[in-house]
Amino acid sequence: MSFKKIKSFFIPSCLKPKNNPSSEARFPAVSKQISSRRLSISDLSNSSVSLMSDLSNSLIGSNLHIFTLKELKNITQDFSKSNFLGEGGFGQVYKGFIDDKLRPGLEAQSVAVKVLDLDGKQGHREWLAEVIFLGQLKHPHLVNLIGYCCEDEHRLLVYEFMPRGNLDNRLFESYSATLPWLRRLQIAVGAAKGLTFLHEEDKPVIYRDFKASNILLNSDFTSKLSDFGLAIDGPEGDESHVTTRVMGTQGYAAPEYIMTGHVTTMSDVFSFGVVLLELLTGRRCLDKTRPNREQNLVDWAKPFLKDAHKVDRIMDPRLEGQYSSEGARKAATLAYHCLSQHPKCRPTMSFVIKTLEPLLDVTHDISIPFVYVVPHDEGKGQENVSGNECYAAVPNGKHKGKETDTKGKGYRRSRKGHRHKHRIRSLRSNAVYSDTALYRTLGSGLYSPKTSSKGN
Ligand SMILES: Nc1ncnc2c1ncn2[C@@H]1O[C@H](COP(=O)(O)OP(=O)(O)O)[C@@H](O)[C@H]1O
Ligand SMILES: [Mg+2]
Repeated sequence: MSFKKIKSFFIPSCLKPKNNPSSEARFPAVSKQISSRRLSISDLSNSSVSLMSDLSNSLIGSNLHIFTLKELKNITQDFSKSNFLGEGGFGQVYKGFIDDKLRPGLEAQSVAVKVLDLDGKQGHREWLAEVIFLGQLKHPHLVNLIGYCCEDEHRLLVYEFMPRGNLDNRLFESYSATLPWLRRLQIAVGAAKGLTFLHEEDKPVIYRDFKASNILLNSDFTSKLSDFGLAIDGPEGDESHVTTRVMGTQGYAAPEYIMTGHVTTMSDVFSFGVVLLELLTGRRCLDKTRPNREQNLVDWAKPFLKDAHKVDRIMDPRLEGQYSSEGARKAATLAYHCLSQHPKCRPTMSFVIKTLEPLLDVTHDISIPFVYVVPHDEGKGQENVSGNECYAAVPNGKHKGKETDTKGKGYRRSRKGHRHKHRIRSLRSNAVYSDTALYRTLGSGLYSPKTSSKGN
């Protein structure tokens, strides 16, 4: 949305925090929970005069901070290139740092500051959606909104900083180390939990823009949904769907939504299926660089998903066979159902979690990289070490011990697909993390909200 469009929407003067002394610029912190009735955009958009008081009253308890443009310029070194984190339809995102010098009581932390592109297609409405939804919805798998700025035509949002950036970059950029299998599952489960939380609200929320670049990763790879610019309230009463202008991202949007503009929580489930497929295959949902029939990931992969014998053929070659075939098959079947043409045939997000989360414990058939023990002092104390000797790590995190015959019984060579013929050589690659180490880190209780990072 351009400046003009924003102006025509409304710019309440009370949204200008310029003259607010720092301590007053913050919503009063009260311990009571946000009122049970969640505020919607529609509650505000007709009432420009009282927008700010509506907003601040309704967001009491969310502890959102109102920042000035000058403050956000300062903390991002004037939105310098070196602080640049990423960019989407709303605008550019920069890293900054805040502490209690900016606002008393503010926890010292890195933040991400998203700045509305005044010449872009999005504007006040998307900004307001983020403030309203993320100001009220708090969950370990939703990115935490710390505050915002609304000054003249400027619209900015301040979030917790997510050190590992977005999933799209992690999964597809060649500079990124390959995400191992269990990490991928961990990320999918986390994102599914975020989406389930939205869908199971008293007043369900449809996220509408579920895609890899809107899934952000914390230092421990906890995944969180960000970018609520397109989120809308789900249907109310007897309504089965909400009719809207078709928004979202090509390749991820559900077919019925594209065709009719009818959107439901099941449209999000379709998009989840697309991301799950991206995690399995390591391919982008749309890729013009591939041969024609492979450019649309869903069209290309769907026939392989249902057939247990074919799933290995579409798995990401960068995994180098180091994944559970059983887990992959189950995840592929789930993706298949999420990608049903008919929304009613898709599973709910809570069913998705029930199916995916147990797969984190399916590790018995994950092939293990071999670590060669290089004799450091030939001839001394190496009686049991032959040229072929290696340590084989096992999924329970213990070393299985020395195995003297790499081709004997103890050698569990991967048989997944033709591309893994040269497995020994490829396993030397540093790019793939050890799934075994990952399994140790993950444990089974990883997704308990209590163990997630603070402040969400
Ligand atoms: N909290 C954050 N921490 C780290 N990087 C972020 C954060 N928020 C956004 N980014 C980066 O900026 C990109 C665009 O952010 P996003 O919120 O999706 O903006 P848009 O609404 O313009 O699509 C993300 O894909 C990510 O790379
Ligand atoms: Mg985005």
